[in-house]
Amino acid sequence: MSNSDNDSLLTNKIAAGVLTAGLVLWGANRLAEIFVPGEAPEKPAITLTALPSAAPAAVVGNVLESIIPLITGADVAKGQAFVQQQCSSCHTLNQGGANGVGPNLYGVLGGPMFGHPGFGYSDAVKGKAKGNWDYDNMNAWLADPAKFAPGTAMSYSGIKNTQTRADVVAYLRGLAANPLPLPTPAQVSAAQVSAAQVSTASPAPAAAAAPSAPSLAALFASADVSKGQAVFTQQCAACHNDAPGAAAGIGPNLYGIVGAKSFSSPGYDYSDAVKAKAGAPWTPSLLSTWLQDPAAYAAGTKMSYAGLKNDQTRADVIAYLDKNAASPAKLP
Ligand code: HEC
Ligand code: HEC
Repeated sequence: MSNSDNDSLLTNKIAAGVLTAGLVLWGANRLAEIFVPGEAPEKPAITLTALPSAAPAAVVGNVLESIIPLITGADVAKGQAFVQQQCSSCHTLNQGGANGVGPNLYGVLGGPMFGHPGFGYSDAVKGKAKGNWDYDNMNAWLADPAKFAPGTAMSYSGIKNTQTRADVVAYLRGLAANPLPLPTPAQVSAAQVSAAQVSTASPAPAAAAAPSAPSLAALFASADVSKGQAVFTQQCAACHNDAPGAAAGIGPNLYGIVGAKSFSSPGYDYSDAVKAKAGAPWTPSLLSTWLQDPAAYAAGTKMSYAGLKNDQTRADVIAYLDKNAASPAKLP
């Protein structure tokens, strides 16, 4: 946080007295920060308001910091807590656990890449399934899934903090009958040498590790429930009732949907496309993914609706759906 705050303070001081020039410089700094090659966020405008100073620190000059030197001393309990919070809505972790939105992760480290039995992987990752998961490729995947496999179905922006990635991978390592051997001292020193060549970047602020939460948080902070209701009436109500206890229409009743188990409304006949995804809780973030493009989330869904493409409108509608419940969930 403070680094770039200091930077802009400094910039302003240098430009003292020349306010306009100062602002121009400040803006240029910001742009330079945001458009680091290969690190340009998908939605710079939103990231700008939500995360003004979280410059990507895990990646320096396009080289990802290795987790190998950190694995042996990593905090497995922290890794577990992080995974519970950020991954378990999509992934089960127990041996033999069912696939959810994502595949079961027991034994994933050291196991075949994108090879969990019975899970329907996206074509994006099928092309990347070469060999087994090790510390390096898992590091790259978790840092930025969409960069590792553009088009992946894992809607997760990545773990930007290197120590957090190490903690998470150390925890994943333990989820196996025969855990992957720890990195050898030779591997550790090789990784340290290349890290020294890269830089001694300070770790990213913890907030940067949250999956798309900052941008959602900003959108929800400015969400307009009555606009959301108007959009719902106009675009969703033809197929969905949303009064408590009302019958299903073409689509299921949506009363209390935020936080509920997805595609699990009793008595409603869901398509096979969504049955395969059923059970993951409708977090605001998952609802946002679904509503942006239902057919992309569940190819073959019978919700014939192209999707709500405007980020703010989607947040408005989700805020309305959230209000429409006995006990509204806390939006991010
Ligand atoms: C919004 C749902 C979602 C979240 C959140 C999510 N994942 Fe995933 N994950 C997926 C999906 C879907 C796939 C399959 C990717 C594909 O088919 O493109 C996947 C794949 C994976 C794989 C590869 C599994 C294999 O079989 O090779 C790993 C490892 C993984 N995720 C770890 C994590 C971790 C760790 C987190 C939390 C930091 C996380 N995921 C958060 C949905 C998610
Ligand atoms: C043309 C009819 C139609 C329209 C319009 C429509 N939906 Fe749906 N919706 C469906 C159907 C059908 C399903 C069940 C999907 C399946 O089984 O594949 C569904 C499922 C859902 C679900 C998952 C429900 C559950 O039980 O988990 C949500 C949430 C949802 N719709 C929200 C919306 C919102 C919000 C809008 C408006 C922005 C909307 N839908 C517009 C027909 C529609």
